[in-house]
Amino acid sequence: ASTLGASAAEKGRYFGAAVAANHLGESQYATVLNREFNSVTPENEMKWDATEPSRGTFNYANADRIVNHAISQGMKVRGHALAWHSQQPGWAQSLSGSTLRSAMLNHVTQVATYYRGKIHSWDVVNEAFADGSSGARRDSNLQRTGNDWIEAAFRAARAADPGAKLCYNDYNTDDANAAKTRAVYAMVQDFKARGVPIDCVGFQSHFNGQSPVPGNYQQNLAQFAALGVDVQITELDIEGSGTAQANSYRSVVNACLAVSRCTGITVWGIPDHYSWRSGGTPLLFNSSYAKKPAYDAVLTAL
Ligand code: XIL
Repeated sequence: ASTLGASAAEKGRYFGAAVAANHLGESQYATVLNREFNSVTPENEMKWDATEPSRGTFNYANADRIVNHAISQGMKVRGHALAWHSQQPGWAQSLSGSTLRSAMLNHVTQVATYYRGKIHSWDVVNEAFADGSSGARRDSNLQRTGNDWIEAAFRAARAADPGAKLCYNDYNTDDANAAKTRAVYAMVQDFKARGVPIDCVGFQSHFNGQSPVPGNYQQNLAQFAALGVDVQITELDIEGSGTAQANSYRSVVNACLAVSRCTGITVWGIPDHYSWRSGGTPLLFNSSYAKKPAYDAVLTAL
């Protein structure tokens, strides 16, 4: 097929992009989105600060613009993210203990209920593990409510939307042997053993010179899949340009295609100039929306 989404669909997978509501009205942006992608992730619009700006008051206007666009185009929606230490509203940042726990669980329940039936996969919990060699949980206000906050969030999400796949999502979990990867692996293994509802693991896969695609990336996806969860590449972007960048993108696509439970790939933006990595060129389209060598490598690999 001649587009990313259609080619991925021929392999039983989706190919998505992170989308910002405030760009949907731009004709070039919408043209490329609608032509190339069959899944979207709201880049910021479903986060806690956006959806519950004051406690108990919910605002879905910007997220709905993306969800409605996706539905009208027949695209899947990845929900991102229900519980996360970052981009919390100020009121939540000032809570702690059982009050924060209740507020978090209510948030999960309300947002997942509002979007019930419309979300392919939810990032229920995002970035809950620490970087480095500790293998520990990340210290955060949510973690300080008790080590079981992650499973509580997953149970609330399952009750609210039984049809959505429930994912744990993180970065720096791409190297099969890294301490952070091993810690997430152990958590997923424990959740599966105890019947905590988890269906998928998201690998953000933000790569750059310091953090290239690991040689064991495919093996890593496969070891998680062997636990009985789907795996998804959820926020892919790769710094660089030209052939080197194209080769890295190709290796990511090939790794996903080699793992039957790798169900889809999402790139974290469409043209380079809208990337969260300001000044960088980590995406598949340049700032004039021309296809880069990385695009050709991905399309050919799919
Ligand atoms: C980023 C967005 O792209 C930016 O627009 C925002 O300012 C900060 O968050 N990991 C995640 C994403 O899970 O939600 C982050 O998105 C990038 C890192």
